[in-house]
Amino acid sequence: METQVAIVGAGPAGLLLSHLLHLKGIDSVVLEHRSRSHVEGRIRAGVLEQMTVDVLRATGVADRMDREGMRHEGIELAFAGRRHRIDLADLTDGKAVTVYGQHEVVRDLIARRLADQGTILFDVAEVGLHAIDGTRPWVTFRDPDGVARRLDCAIIAGCDGFHGVSRAAIPAHALTVHERVYPFAWLGVLADAAPAQEELIYAHHADGFALFSMRSPTITRLYLQCAPDEDLNNWPDDRIWAALQDRLAGDGAFRLTEGPILQKGVTGMRSFIAAPMRHGRLVLAGDAAHIVPPTGAKGMNLAVADVQVLTRALVALLKRGQDDLLNRYSDLCLRRIWTVSRFSWWMTQMLHRFDDHDAFADRMQLAELEYLTSSRNAARVLAENYVGLPLELPV
Ligand code: APR
Ligand code: PHB
Repeated sequence: METQVAIVGAGPAGLLLSHLLHLKGIDSVVLEHRSRSHVEGRIRAGVLEQMTVDVLRATGVADRMDREGMRHEGIELAFAGRRHRIDLADLTDGKAVTVYGQHEVVRDLIARRLADQGTILFDVAEVGLHAIDGTRPWVTFRDPDGVARRLDCAIIAGCDGFHGVSRAAIPAHALTVHERVYPFAWLGVLADAAPAQEELIYAHHADGFALFSMRSPTITRLYLQCAPDEDLNNWPDDRIWAALQDRLAGDGAFRLTEGPILQKGVTGMRSFIAAPMRHGRLVLAGDAAHIVPPTGAKGMNLAVADVQVLTRALVALLKRGQDDLLNRYSDLCLRRIWTVSRFSWWMTQMLHRFDDHDAFADRMQLAELEYLTSSRNAARVLAENYVGLPLELPV
């Protein structure tokens, strides 16, 4: 088989890249080792920045998001027995975020790629990258029938997430990694219960962080800070609801609507950045190159920013034979990645209990939350990062 861009991974990064390239007349093949139903059902984050909404709209994949996505013009911070609203729209001249599940974005992109006769091969195995130092790399894999196949291309886009094979294909000496593993995780639950209010609540609590979010008018999404090796057997549904009610109560006026728990899982938390995001004819985008902790919901939005820059670089290379943008791809992306990583790290350290949490650390967190909710300038800093910093695309 042959294509212009071999894309490893059918997450938001790989699928959006394939779609954007198609609109520019560039052919790609997406290789995904999981099944279509697995990637379409995998519950991940759910907050889209304005920039993400804009690119989905501008490229014709936003119909369902426009119908079912929920525009949120504010978030709440709960701490010290109080709740405060951060008016995102007021603080950012009318910007907002859209609550719409990442797996819904994935479903919409898969449907559109298939409608456009795009090639996505699900259930492939043993993906291997070859000759990334030359100008004609190729990818090997086994198709669902176990047959060994080869895909020749001009460039490989590694969009296979944190545990994928692409980053590992770059020689260790050519990659610099920055990492912080947090000493806690999130226990996430999806509940068949109507969200008790319209806006998200980020809660600071003596027992640890909690987050109230949602996926639809009938589905609530919730998270509790827990240990990285937390055993879910210790968390029967009753205990989860009691902890959530307690941590999210704020001034006591808020009560979650409870309902059957449809899914629960533990997600570890880390900040991770690998640079450069390109080695020869292999480029990395999304979680393959960087991870942010979920506080602030930036993971998918960063992936969407990467692939917009990457599309420009690949158009220059494959349509005009110019490699200048490809040479700058990593630097162009990393500026935003570091800025967004700082925001995600800051939200995380302000709201969670750490192992060495003493009374001073607690007071510092509360003082920061107090400042954020009493100073318009401080609130504006939170708001402009939360709705998303402007994406500067190279010309
Ligand atoms: N071969 C083929 N596909 C692979 C391989 C492999 N060896 N390893 C992983 N994949 C696939 C995964 O199954 C997944 O579908 O690559 C895809 C990577 O998708 P994501 O993990 O969703 O990463 P990305 O597309 O970069 O999306 C950004 O934002 O909200 C965050 O972490 C969250 O997934 C999210 C990310
Ligand atoms: C979610 O709804 O999954 C979500 C929302 C906000 C976050 C993280 C996750 O900061």
